[in-house]
Amino acid sequence: QIFADSKEASNAVAREIADLIRQKQNEGKPCVLGLATGSSPKTVYAILVRMHREEGLSFRNVISFNLDEYYQMEPDSIYSYHRFMKEQLFDHVDILKENYFIPDGTVPATSLRDYCTSYENRINAVGGLDFQLLGIGGNGHIGFNEPGALINSRTRLITLDHSTRVAASMEFGGLHNVPRKAITLGVAPILNARRIVLLAWGERKASVIQRAVEGPVSELNPASYLQAHPDVSFVVDESAASEL
Ligand code: GLP
Repeated sequence: QIFADSKEASNAVAREIADLIRQKQNEGKPCVLGLATGSSPKTVYAILVRMHREEGLSFRNVISFNLDEYYQMEPDSIYSYHRFMKEQLFDHVDILKENYFIPDGTVPATSLRDYCTSYENRINAVGGLDFQLLGIGGNGHIGFNEPGALINSRTRLITLDHSTRVAASMEFGGLHNVPRKAITLGVAPILNARRIVLLAWGERKASVIQRAVEGPVSELNPASYLQAHPDVSFVVDESAASEL
């Protein structure tokens, strides 16, 4: 889906999420959302916050699971995805504290394996993801599933690509401050979501979007795995669509 600009696109995506939340409310069911960080979803979150304030959109039936977190990372660090989500969304809506989950960047190395399994189990226990929001890395990563991640990969500790660390180095005030590892939801649980929307804005995403949408399905570009999903949309602006 190609939109004139990221604002229009974000509006459409926020509408879809709000409609889903309300539909589930009417059915008396929880709405299970997979959420992403990065700059791409920021406007979607801002619009959802506005809908909460102005239209009374309630998040009380929302259960959310974030894709990833740096490792090691304290939740209250200014660089953490915990902090990002609180600032962009959770602190401004009525989601219950016990209903949002973000991978814990402080889990001891020895219990990581069990922790990752339990993170996925928790998603399954509430019925699986109704909707997964994604961004895309310049190298095709989804969550932090870097090139080489397999289609059946599970939630795990990964080593960040050099290019991913370079892309994050501005925010962290230098490459040496960027963590080398992260916890990410695997490709398999992402593909298990019933609906997936990937966002990409700007010219710097044009080439990776072209390869993800039109290229071969390949571990060299994990976003290309989405081609196999029955209900996925790549929501892009004109610039990110410029090489399609
Ligand atoms: C980070 C996140 C990804 C995100 C990507 C792109 O690496 N872990 O989930 O999709 O950045 O970020 P941006 O949206 O800022 O381009």
